[in-house]
Amino acid sequence: MPVTRKDFPKDFLFGAATAAYQIEGHSFGGAGSTHWDTYAATPGNVIRAEDGAIACDHYHRYEEDLDFLKDGGFDTYRFSTSWARVLPEGRGQVNEAGLDYYDRLVDAMLARDLKPNQTLYHWEMPSALADLGGWEHPDVADWFADYVEVITKRIGDRVSKIATINEPWCVSVLGHFIGRHAPGKVDVRSAARAVHHVLKAHGRGMTRLREMGQKDLGIVVNYEAVKPGSDDPRDVAAANRQHAIMNQLFMHPLFKGEYTADAMEGYGPHLPKGWQDDMAEISQPMDWHGVNYYMLNRFAHDDTIPWPSLKQVEGPLPKTQMGWEIYPDGLSWLLTWLKDEYVGDLPMFITENGMAWPEADTGSNFGDTERWKYIQDHLAAVRQSMIDGANIEGFYYWSLLDNYEWAFGYEKRFGLIHVDFDSLKRTPKHSYYALTEWLRATD
Ligand code: BGC
Repeated sequence: MPVTRKDFPKDFLFGAATAAYQIEGHSFGGAGSTHWDTYAATPGNVIRAEDGAIACDHYHRYEEDLDFLKDGGFDTYRFSTSWARVLPEGRGQVNEAGLDYYDRLVDAMLARDLKPNQTLYHWEMPSALADLGGWEHPDVADWFADYVEVITKRIGDRVSKIATINEPWCVSVLGHFIGRHAPGKVDVRSAARAVHHVLKAHGRGMTRLREMGQKDLGIVVNYEAVKPGSDDPRDVAAANRQHAIMNQLFMHPLFKGEYTADAMEGYGPHLPKGWQDDMAEISQPMDWHGVNYYMLNRFAHDDTIPWPSLKQVEGPLPKTQMGWEIYPDGLSWLLTWLKDEYVGDLPMFITENGMAWPEADTGSNFGDTERWKYIQDHLAAVRQSMIDGANIEGFYYWSLLDNYEWAFGYEKRFGLIHVDFDSLKRTPKHSYYALTEWLRATD
């Protein structure tokens, strides 16, 4: 039996999520260059070298986009503010047009009864700071806290929740160790510094927000379900290692004030001097926890690769357009594990869950029935974890709109709303109608 809206508490919040660089159009309104602009401009990094210069032109069309949420009966909208739009050089001169824009955006949410859930960093490291080392620089946490103060002074009185960082693993490991996100480094020492500094920035940002009297603060972390590629004990050990260096890399410091032994094995020798002194600020209490979950990944041991000596292997389950294995049970496992291991009764929100599906397969009426099934199956998994005792207070679908999917350019489509990237015309897909009808069935 599929779950219904009535299976969730009345005050459970449903929303959709986006991020600044992926939708706004970063060439508009005086925003500064970011490390994603330069990563995209470097051959080989991004499909067709596409960037976020225009994206969905949400900067000019946000009223129309927010109407989709209001008309669909959503309660909340997860959005992000761009550091480089607020402070084009990362520090110093403020871009007043950027602050005015976020002011209008938040007011437009409130006018539609949508609770604004803001993320402070969804990957727009200003180029001027990237030039100095970005996430590797020892002062980056203080630069971040100063940006946090500027934007919060302007909109902090009207947002209902704030997350410091989106997906610290992508910021640090994917960007500095695997090299598939900006700044595209493949270096264990850079990665270790980025891991620690992104945590330190979270802590420093939290401290600054508390000093300003802000409430409802958290962080958004990405997780994956992990399985071994085979029963071989070395593959089982590889899968356990991956779990520790992906799912626990940030949660252990955030909730227990220390790195796991597995993380220390690879990153320990490269952590910045005096890192231990930052752990208390990093592990200060939060008010909620944001969970991003998309897929199952499988791992095998590989001796030919230095630490962590593992490689990803293909699995048999149906896959999304990203090639990600669809595994809703992983979400109920994850939420229960997080409750038991780290967050206890702290409210959790699914801050991202969704699938990419090719335009060609949805036909001219954008009949993405696979997406609606994906959503229903994951909502059922959330419901199961609640029955099992996890304190879940909301769910955001990723994403409201088809948008700039980072290294995949505009090719991978996650939206409930189709965007034609030539005309920028928006068209709701089947999944939008199905989900909004589901949201309305409350009696
Ligand atoms: C990110 C989004 C991204 C989505 C799909 C998450 O990792 O927060 O920015 O578009 O997953 O890849």
